[in-house]
Amino acid sequence: MNESAPAVEVVRLEFRDERTPYSGRFHDVYFSALDGISESRYVYLDGSGYLAALARENRRIEVGEIGFGVGLNFILTLDVFLKEAKPGQTLHYHAFERYPVHLDDLKRLYAAYPELAEASGMLLDHYPLLTPGVHSLRLAGGRVRLWLSLGDAKEQMSLSDFRVAHWYWDGFAPRQNPDAFDPGLFREVSRLSRPRAKGASFTSAGWVRRAIEASGFRIEKRPGFGKKRECIRAELDSEPPHQLQPLPPWFSNERVIPISPQSGPVGIIGAGLAGTAVARRLAESGYEVLILDPEGPGQRTSGNPLGLYNLQISKKPNPISRFAQAAIAEFLRELQELQVPHHTGILRTDLREAGPLMESAYPEDSYEITSRGIRLKVCGVVNPKELCRIRIDHPGIRLIRKRVTSVESTGNGFRIHVQEGPPIECAQVVTTLGAEYRLPDPQPPVIPHLDPIPMRPIRGQIILVPPMETSRGLQETLVEEGYASPVLPEISGVDAHLIGATYQAKTVLPDQEEIDRDLLIRESAKWPEFSGLNPSGSIQSRVGWRLSSPDKLPLIGPLCDPVLVAGLYGNAFRGGPVKTLPPIPVAPGEWTLTALGSRGITFSAIGSLLLADWMTGERLSIELDLIEHLHPARFFIRKLKRPGIS
Ligand SMILES: Cc1cc2nc3c(=O)[nH]c(=O)nc-3n(C[C@H](O)[C@H](O)[C@H](O)COP(=O)(O)OP(=O)(O)OC[C@H]3O[C@@H](n4cnc5c(N)ncnc54)[C@H](O)[C@@H]3O)c2cc1C
Ligand SMILES: C[S@@+](CC[C@H](N)C(=O)[O-])C[C@H]1O[C@@H](n2cnc3c(N)ncnc32)[C@H](O)[C@@H]1O
Repeated sequence: MNESAPAVEVVRLEFRDERTPYSGRFHDVYFSALDGISESRYVYLDGSGYLAALARENRRIEVGEIGFGVGLNFILTLDVFLKEAKPGQTLHYHAFERYPVHLDDLKRLYAAYPELAEASGMLLDHYPLLTPGVHSLRLAGGRVRLWLSLGDAKEQMSLSDFRVAHWYWDGFAPRQNPDAFDPGLFREVSRLSRPRAKGASFTSAGWVRRAIEASGFRIEKRPGFGKKRECIRAELDSEPPHQLQPLPPWFSNERVIPISPQSGPVGIIGAGLAGTAVARRLAESGYEVLILDPEGPGQRTSGNPLGLYNLQISKKPNPISRFAQAAIAEFLRELQELQVPHHTGILRTDLREAGPLMESAYPEDSYEITSRGIRLKVCGVVNPKELCRIRIDHPGIRLIRKRVTSVESTGNGFRIHVQEGPPIECAQVVTTLGAEYRLPDPQPPVIPHLDPIPMRPIRGQIILVPPMETSRGLQETLVEEGYASPVLPEISGVDAHLIGATYQAKTVLPDQEEIDRDLLIRESAKWPEFSGLNPSGSIQSRVGWRLSSPDKLPLIGPLCDPVLVAGLYGNAFRGGPVKTLPPIPVAPGEWTLTALGSRGITFSAIGSLLLADWMTGERLSIELDLIEHLHPARFFIRKLKRPGIS
């Protein structure tokens, strides 16, 4: 993907009147000033076959849209679905938008459409932080999913894999906006289409028709709405002709057999931030979840009284910054959905200007430049332990306070052996052991396909400091290399600042706790609030172990047997044709989410979303070029490709 141009620009609407939004950039209305609702229904909902399918079918309905705009087509589609869908029917809506509209403007617009209040309210309540990439919204108790990809539609589609049966092609007038009707874009449309998919557009311009036809659709003109002469509907003539694969075979999903809730419980090992997040996602999708941890939720590394959810600010976009961007947006959604107590406001006292990356990655109103640094208005702190507790507070989740000693495959499921008592049977198993697993003491369990993956534990310490006169009034968390929180007893349960955190990958000394305590006190003295901190005062320490992978990104996805992987791909990486290789041999039913490093709060939110969708065969809510940076088998593949071997 192009990593230099800003991928997304948040736009403000102009209003012709309260019900008619207008784009100053494209000099065009978003929908007909005459009767937008009737026109959209006629051209798109009817033209694409959506209405007929809703009446006829009794399964998932898949809609795709180029040009999400103010979301009117989506809201109308949702509105009809809410009123007319049969029990068991679900709606999957995949939308693309290069210039997302500011939430305040959408609120103003839909205040003028009280007849759509229920459906528009759902969108407005879940409208995401407008960062580039894929956003996944669950509405109507999960019966409706909206994937909103922000960025150029062609580029975003080329990084996606899903299927659509009903397309809405709704760019502005093609002359003003040829990008939304580009032939390359329609090649992606056909790749992502179901056989005999239907599509509709308000435009019948000759070159647009030719681009659509060239991608395999047969076009039919029909009378336009109101004063417009004609519009078009189209149907894919045959099998989708362009089978471009967005992922190489060694990261493909083809060998994954999706699980259904009927296949039996899912066992999750570890109830830290990772395990509890996965448990919640699966339980919300109707799975029975058994989560095993001898200590209960959020007791080890995930047990700090406060933790930051923060933006990653890098000089240049890279896989970590892009993943972190997706992670904060997903975590903010979770924060709202689960109503997790939190305190907003982080001040980066080491930054004076936003810089190009921040400007292209985060909406302008998510931060503000002050005389003391950059205020990150959407970031803040939560209590990670409480977050873990809230996540597993769901009737579909059962906590089993037992230590796992090993996991055994039974052919059609797993037997999880525990320290005391009979083994626990489950259909699939997710390992989220965190760093403890890599520490020699206590004895780590045996998880065969996780053991060979290179990861290392990194010690970290925080201190809890009683408030002083200078610090008590602190309102936001100060961040540079380390951080210092305000006193937030209602969230943390302690009347103290939390100052953190050390990062110790090397040998741990016998008096490490004291060394780190002094280091944190010294470092925090750069902030006037803490310059008078008394080292001999009553200061408590807490130590945890982060788990880090060599490339600092988490492991998310299916586990694989490295011997099978080497046998399958070893020769090809020494010069053979790689495109025709078979998909990676995953170990059926074995999954992981781990190595969350220093960002367990936000990484567990996006990681669990990806993992649960991966397990259940749903679309992955991330740009797919990032999968090679997240797949647990990536280290095996890199080793096979290493110069000297390949
Ligand atoms: C000092 C410090 C400060 C941090 N600050 C932040 C921050 O501000 N923001 C942020 O996002 N992240 C922060 N992190 C990182 C974050 O805490 C971690 O990324 C996160 O806690 C990892 O969660 P986890 O679920 O992967 O692992 P863990 O929390 O370690 O959970 C693993 C669980 O597995 C269980 N387990 C182990 N062995 C077994 C077994 N045999 N059977 C069953 N269960 C077992 C353990 O009891 C444990 O509960 C910080 C980390 C440290 C150390
Ligand atoms: C007519 S409006 C869509 C109205 C929308 N369907 C609705 O119901 O509100 C066209 C939209 O296409 C978007 N757009 C234009 N070029 C694009 C591109 N290359 N990729 C994605 N979206 C694009 C515009 O920003 C605009 O929001």
